Order: sequence, then structure tokens, then C-alpha cells
Amino acid sequence: MRKPLVMGNWKLNGSIGMAKDLVAGLRSELSTEANCGIAIAPPTVYLDFVKHQLGGSNILLGAQDVGVHLSGAYTGEVSATMLKEIGVTHVIIGHSERRTYHKESDEFIAQKFGVLKEAGLVPVLCIGETEAENEAGQTQAVCARQIDAVINALGVQAFNGAVIAYEPVWAIGTGKSATPAQAQAVHKFIRDHIAKQDAAVAKQVIIQYGGSVNDKNAAELFTQPDIDGALVGGASLKADAFAAIVRAAE
Ligand code: G3P
Repeated sequence: MRKPLVMGNWKLNGSIGMAKDLVAGLRSELSTEANCGIAIAPPTVYLDFVKHQLGGSNILLGAQDVGVHLSGAYTGEVSATMLKEIGVTHVIIGHSERRTYHKESDEFIAQKFGVLKEAGLVPVLCIGETEAENEAGQTQAVCARQIDAVINALGVQAFNGAVIAYEPVWAIGTGKSATPAQAQAVHKFIRDHIAKQDAAVAKQVIIQYGGSVNDKNAAELFTQPDIDGALVGGASLKADAFAAIVRAAE
């Protein structure tokens, strides 16, 4: 039985004061043991601060990206071992905003997946089609290509213990979530695609939905058999909304 994971992606938002208040709010809203995994991914510069604010809570620490090198002359980069050392467990890679603004390729993202596995961190691999690709009927082909880049580089076993976040680009930050049925159809396609290589790996892999998830639409999305929680942007910046999404996943 897969345990859902609800993860907040704060993106480029926050400050010390905001992080302090938000974590305090989450700790009081989510003080009892949850039946689903909970993680928050603040901007890199606040990771250590947030780690201390989280104290002994059941909320895990996530990062929004990672470099492909472990050390050396790579100005501005942060390594997987550094993230691990400060207490990060889950790392988002391949977010559409990085694919678009930083021109990250499927192969480069697969390299990041590899360094995270090597460091013992959980990759949260974001995949998903743009609106134009959706309208051209390419949703499945795009998702398959993004998954296959990892399988080709590392083998399907790399998805053991990993997380996939299906985030249709047209649903991110638009207020226009995929319907539960639309999302379920793609999640099932993703799981079946992995199952063609290894059924056991496909069965255990967590597939989150992301894209305008909020406290109103989460419960219905989570009724779908292949939707294992959510990767939440905007609504993760409010303690009550994020906590409501967590409760909907339990
Ligand atoms: O990674 C989460 C994300 O891209 C979804 O953002 O604001 O639509 O929940 P949002």
C-alpha cells in the first residue's frame, strides 16, 4: 500500500519571518501523526533555518533543486551531499519552471536523479506537458519521454523509493487544475508505462499530482486510485490551506 506524500513547493517566496510563522502554523495545524508523508521545500537559503524551526516534527525537509556535481569549481551550485548534511530528505528536480527558464534537458534532469539516489535522497521528478502539447494530443508521449530519460540513464529500479509529480504545465499557478478524471488517466498511463519494465517498481512508486491544488479540490483528486498526494505551490504558503490538503490525503 502506497503512503501518499503531500509536499509544499514554496518556489521563490518567503523570508525569515514568513518561514518562522508558516512553520509554526503548520506545526500547530498538523500536530498529530499523519497517515501521509508531509514535506516542505523552502528556498535553499532558508533550508537550515526551517530545519531548526521544524525541530522534532513529522514534517520532512525538501529542496527545490540540486546541482549535478558534488564539489569543485561550480559557482552558485549546491550539492546533494550538502543538502543531505543539513537534513533534507526529498529534492524536487525537473520542475517545468527549471525546464523552461533554465533550459534543463531530460538527460540533465536524469543526471540529477542519479546524484540524488547516490546520496540517499528521494528524487521528486516533475513531469508534464505544456498546453500546446496537451492540445496536440502529446500528453502521454511527453510524460513517457521524460520518464524514459531516467530509465535509459539509470534503469527502472531507480524509481524504487522515488516520487514522480505529474504537473501539467497549463495547470501550474493558473487556478485551472486538471480534473480528477483527467489526472487519473495520466497517472495510470505513467504507472502502466513503468510497469512495462517492472511491475513491482510501478506499484510502489508515489505519483503526486501538481497544478492548482487547493483545499477545495484536493479531496476529490485524492479519491483517484493512482493519485498519491500532491505537490503544492501557491496553497503551500498558507498553513491552514496546506494542512487541509494534508488532511484530505490521509
Ligand atoms: O510544484 C508545484 C507547482 O508547480 C504547482 O503550483 O501554485 O499551481 O499549486 P501551484
